[in-house]
Amino acid sequence: MIKISPSILSCDYSKMGEEFERMKISGADWLHIDVMDGHFVPNITLGAPLIKCLRKCSDLVFDVHLMISDPYKYIPDFIKAGADVVCFHVESDSDTEKTIDLIRESGKVAALAVKPGTEIEAVYPYLEKLGMVLVMTVEPGFGGQSFMADMMPKIVKLREECKRRNLSLDIQVDGGVSLSTVETVAEAGANVLVAGSAIFGSEDPKETITLLREKAAKYF
Ligand code: DX5
Ligand code: ZN
Repeated sequence: MIKISPSILSCDYSKMGEEFERMKISGADWLHIDVMDGHFVPNITLGAPLIKCLRKCSDLVFDVHLMISDPYKYIPDFIKAGADVVCFHVESDSDTEKTIDLIRESGKVAALAVKPGTEIEAVYPYLEKLGMVLVMTVEPGFGGQSFMADMMPKIVKLREECKRRNLSLDIQVDGGVSLSTVETVAEAGANVLVAGSAIFGSEDPKETITLLREKAAKYF
Protein backbone atom coordinates (compact mmCIF):
# COMPACT_ATOMS: atom_id res chain seq x y z
CA MET A 1 0.00 0.00 0.00
CA ILE A 2 1.29 3.43 -0.96
CA LYS A 3 1.78 5.91 1.87
CA ILE A 4 2.68 9.55 1.38
CA SER A 5 4.64 11.08 4.24
CA PRO A 6 5.32 14.82 3.83
CA SER A 7 8.59 15.84 5.47
CA ILE A 8 7.85 18.71 7.82
CA LEU A 9 11.45 19.87 7.46
CA SER A 10 10.11 22.06 4.66
CA CYS A 11 7.01 23.36 6.48
CA ASP A 12 6.47 26.83 7.93
CA TYR A 13 7.78 26.37 11.48
CA SER A 14 5.91 29.45 12.71
CA LYS A 15 2.58 27.64 12.28
CA MET A 16 3.25 23.95 12.51
CA GLY A 17 -0.19 23.03 13.86
CA GLU A 18 -1.86 24.58 10.82
CA GLU A 19 0.67 22.99 8.49
CA PHE A 20 -0.11 19.54 9.93
CA GLU A 21 -3.83 20.11 9.40
CA ARG A 22 -3.14 21.33 5.85
CA MET A 23 -1.30 18.05 5.14
CA LYS A 24 -4.16 16.01 6.57
CA ILE A 25 -6.78 17.66 4.39
CA SER A 26 -4.42 17.34 1.43
CA GLY A 27 -4.48 13.56 1.82
CA ALA A 28 -1.20 12.77 3.61
CA ASP A 29 -1.08 9.34 5.25
CA TRP A 30 1.81 10.02 7.63
CA LEU A 31 3.87 13.00 8.76
CA HIS A 32 7.63 12.58 8.44
CA ILE A 33 9.39 14.34 11.31
CA ASP A 34 13.15 14.79 10.87
CA VAL A 35 15.11 14.89 14.12
CA MET A 36 18.73 16.02 13.74
CA ASP A 37 21.25 16.44 16.53
CA GLY A 38 24.01 18.46 14.84
CA HIS A 39 26.36 15.51 15.41
CA PHE A 40 25.14 12.59 13.32
CA VAL A 41 24.31 15.16 10.64
CA PRO A 42 25.49 18.76 10.31
CA ASN A 43 22.11 20.32 11.15
CA ILE A 44 19.85 20.67 14.21
CA THR A 45 16.06 20.54 14.00
CA LEU A 46 13.76 19.60 16.87
CA GLY A 47 13.41 17.18 19.75
CA ALA A 48 10.90 15.21 21.82
CA PRO A 49 9.38 18.19 23.74
CA LEU A 50 8.22 19.83 20.52
CA ILE A 51 6.89 16.53 19.13
CA LYS A 52 4.89 16.12 22.35
CA CYS A 53 3.20 19.50 21.74
CA LEU A 54 2.64 18.76 18.06
CA ARG A 55 0.99 15.47 18.96
CA LYS A 56 -2.00 17.52 20.17
CA CYS A 57 -2.35 19.09 16.71
CA SER A 58 -2.64 15.96 14.58
CA ASP A 59 -3.89 12.41 14.61
CA LEU A 60 -1.83 11.38 11.57
CA VAL A 61 0.86 8.73 12.04
CA PHE A 62 4.05 10.38 13.30
CA ASP A 63 6.88 8.89 11.26
CA VAL A 64 9.93 10.01 13.22
CA HIS A 65 13.27 9.86 11.41
CA LEU A 66 16.04 10.04 13.98
CA MET A 67 19.29 11.36 12.53
CA ILE A 68 21.03 11.28 15.88
CA SER A 69 24.19 9.57 17.12
CA ASP A 70 22.73 7.71 20.10
CA PRO A 71 19.08 6.81 19.38
CA TYR A 72 18.95 4.15 22.12
CA LYS A 73 19.32 6.82 24.80
CA TYR A 74 16.46 8.95 23.47
CA ILE A 75 13.95 6.34 22.22
CA PRO A 76 11.84 6.43 25.43
CA ASP A 77 11.49 10.23 25.12
CA PHE A 78 10.32 10.03 21.52
CA ILE A 79 7.89 7.24 22.30
CA LYS A 80 6.43 9.18 25.23
CA ALA A 81 6.16 12.22 22.96
CA GLY A 82 3.91 10.29 20.58
CA ALA A 83 6.05 8.77 17.82
CA ASP A 84 4.30 5.91 15.99
CA VAL A 85 7.02 4.77 13.60
CA VAL A 86 10.51 5.14 15.06
CA CYS A 87 13.28 5.08 12.49
CA PHE A 88 16.98 5.26 13.33
CA HIS A 89 20.17 4.79 11.35
CA VAL A 90 22.14 1.58 11.16
CA GLU A 91 25.22 3.86 11.07
CA SER A 92 24.42 5.36 14.50
CA ASP A 93 26.52 4.51 17.59
CA SER A 94 23.74 2.59 19.36
CA ASP A 95 23.50 -1.20 19.43
CA THR A 96 21.10 -1.90 16.54
CA GLU A 97 19.45 -5.01 17.98
CA LYS A 98 18.91 -3.48 21.43
CA THR A 99 17.47 -0.31 19.94
CA ILE A 100 15.02 -2.24 17.73
CA ASP A 101 13.95 -4.33 20.73
CA LEU A 102 13.37 -1.20 22.81
CA ILE A 103 11.07 0.26 20.15
CA ARG A 104 9.17 -3.00 19.73
CA GLU A 105 8.73 -3.48 23.48
CA SER A 106 6.89 -0.15 23.48
CA GLY A 107 4.47 -1.47 20.87
CA LYS A 108 5.74 0.92 18.18
CA VAL A 109 6.95 0.20 14.66
CA ALA A 110 10.73 -0.16 14.44
CA ALA A 111 12.39 1.09 11.26
CA LEU A 112 16.01 1.15 10.18
CA ALA A 113 17.56 3.68 7.78
CA VAL A 114 20.62 3.45 5.54
CA LYS A 115 22.65 6.40 4.26
CA PRO A 116 23.67 6.45 0.58
CA GLY A 117 27.14 5.06 1.32
CA THR A 118 25.87 2.03 3.27
CA GLU A 119 25.17 -1.32 1.61
CA ILE A 120 21.58 -2.51 1.93
CA GLU A 121 22.83 -5.84 3.33
CA ALA A 122 23.52 -3.96 6.58
CA VAL A 123 19.81 -4.22 7.46
CA TYR A 124 19.42 -7.91 6.53
CA PRO A 125 20.14 -9.33 10.00
CA TYR A 126 17.20 -7.35 11.42
CA LEU A 127 14.52 -7.66 8.72
CA GLU A 128 12.29 -10.04 10.69
CA LYS A 129 11.95 -7.49 13.50
CA LEU A 130 11.42 -4.41 11.35
CA GLY A 131 8.23 -2.80 10.11
CA MET A 132 10.06 -0.61 7.63
CA VAL A 133 13.43 0.08 6.03
CA LEU A 134 14.32 3.59 4.90
CA VAL A 135 16.63 3.90 1.91
CA MET A 136 18.04 7.45 1.77
CA THR A 137 18.31 8.99 -1.67
CA VAL A 138 20.23 12.05 -0.44
CA GLU A 139 22.88 12.49 2.25
CA PRO A 140 20.81 13.10 5.39
CA GLY A 141 20.88 16.60 6.84
CA PHE A 142 18.99 18.95 4.57
CA GLY A 143 15.87 19.19 2.42
CA GLY A 144 15.85 20.21 -1.21
CA GLN A 145 18.83 18.13 -2.40
CA SER A 146 19.03 16.26 -5.70
CA PHE A 147 17.67 12.73 -5.93
CA MET A 148 20.29 9.96 -6.19
CA ALA A 149 18.95 7.53 -8.78
CA ASP A 150 21.93 5.24 -8.20
CA MET A 151 20.28 4.11 -4.93
CA MET A 152 17.57 2.22 -6.85
CA PRO A 153 19.44 -1.11 -6.97
CA LYS A 154 19.40 -1.13 -3.15
CA ILE A 155 15.60 -0.89 -3.15
CA VAL A 156 15.28 -3.61 -5.80
CA LYS A 157 17.60 -5.92 -3.83
CA LEU A 158 15.75 -5.31 -0.58
CA ARG A 159 12.33 -5.93 -2.15
CA GLU A 160 13.65 -9.22 -3.58
CA GLU A 161 15.12 -10.24 -0.24
CA CYS A 162 11.80 -9.49 1.51
CA LYS A 163 9.93 -11.61 -1.05
CA ARG A 164 12.43 -14.42 -0.60
CA ARG A 165 11.81 -14.37 3.16
CA ASN A 166 8.06 -13.86 2.76
CA LEU A 167 8.13 -10.51 4.55
CA SER A 168 5.86 -7.66 3.59
CA LEU A 169 7.64 -4.76 5.21
CA ASP A 170 7.36 -1.17 4.08
CA ILE A 171 10.22 0.28 2.07
CA GLN A 172 10.52 4.02 2.50
CA VAL A 173 12.46 6.39 0.33
CA ASP A 174 13.55 9.84 1.48
CA GLY A 175 15.32 12.62 -0.39
CA GLY A 176 14.52 14.34 -3.66
CA VAL A 177 11.23 12.51 -4.18
CA SER A 178 9.05 14.57 -6.53
CA LEU A 179 6.60 14.17 -9.39
CA SER A 180 9.55 13.56 -11.70
CA THR A 181 11.29 10.89 -9.56
CA VAL A 182 8.37 9.10 -7.90
CA GLU A 183 7.89 6.54 -10.65
CA THR A 184 11.55 5.56 -10.48
CA VAL A 185 11.32 4.78 -6.75
CA ALA A 186 7.97 3.01 -7.02
CA GLU A 187 9.19 0.86 -9.89
CA ALA A 188 12.18 -0.14 -7.78
CA GLY A 189 9.81 -1.24 -4.99
CA ALA A 190 9.46 1.62 -2.50
CA ASN A 191 5.91 2.14 -1.18
CA VAL A 192 6.35 4.80 1.52
CA LEU A 193 7.24 8.08 -0.09
CA VAL A 194 8.70 10.97 1.86
CA ALA A 195 8.65 14.36 0.15
CA GLY A 196 9.50 17.69 1.72
CA SER A 197 10.15 20.43 -0.81
CA ALA A 198 7.98 18.77 -3.50
CA ILE A 199 4.90 18.97 -1.26
CA PHE A 200 5.46 22.08 0.86
CA GLY A 201 6.88 23.97 -2.12
CA SER A 202 3.84 23.11 -4.21
CA GLU A 203 1.08 25.65 -4.80
CA ASP A 204 -1.42 22.84 -4.47
CA PRO A 205 -0.21 20.17 -2.02
CA LYS A 206 -3.44 18.20 -2.39
CA GLU A 207 -2.90 17.84 -6.12
CA THR A 208 0.78 16.97 -5.61
CA ILE A 209 -0.03 14.27 -3.05
CA THR A 210 -2.74 12.85 -5.30
CA LEU A 211 -0.39 12.76 -8.29
CA LEU A 212 2.45 11.21 -6.26
CA ARG A 213 0.08 8.48 -5.13
CA GLU A 214 -1.33 7.88 -8.62
CA LYS A 215 2.07 7.72 -10.29
CA ALA A 216 3.40 5.31 -7.64
CA ALA A 217 0.27 3.14 -7.70
CA LYS A 218 0.99 2.05 -11.27
CA TYR A 219 3.73 -0.20 -9.92
CA PHE A 220 1.79 -1.87 -7.10
C1 DX5 B 1 16.92 14.83 4.83
C2 DX5 B 1 15.61 14.46 5.45
C3 DX5 B 1 14.49 14.43 4.50
C4 DX5 B 1 14.22 15.74 3.81
C5 DX5 B 1 13.67 15.46 2.44
O1 DX5 B 1 17.93 14.57 5.72
O2 DX5 B 1 15.70 13.19 6.04
O3 DX5 B 1 13.32 13.93 5.11
O4 DX5 B 1 13.36 16.58 4.50
O5 DX5 B 1 13.51 16.65 1.78
P1 DX5 B 1 13.25 16.71 0.21
O6 DX5 B 1 12.02 15.94 -0.06
O7 DX5 B 1 13.12 18.18 -0.03
O8 DX5 B 1 14.48 16.13 -0.43
ZN1 ZN C 1 13.84 12.22 6.66
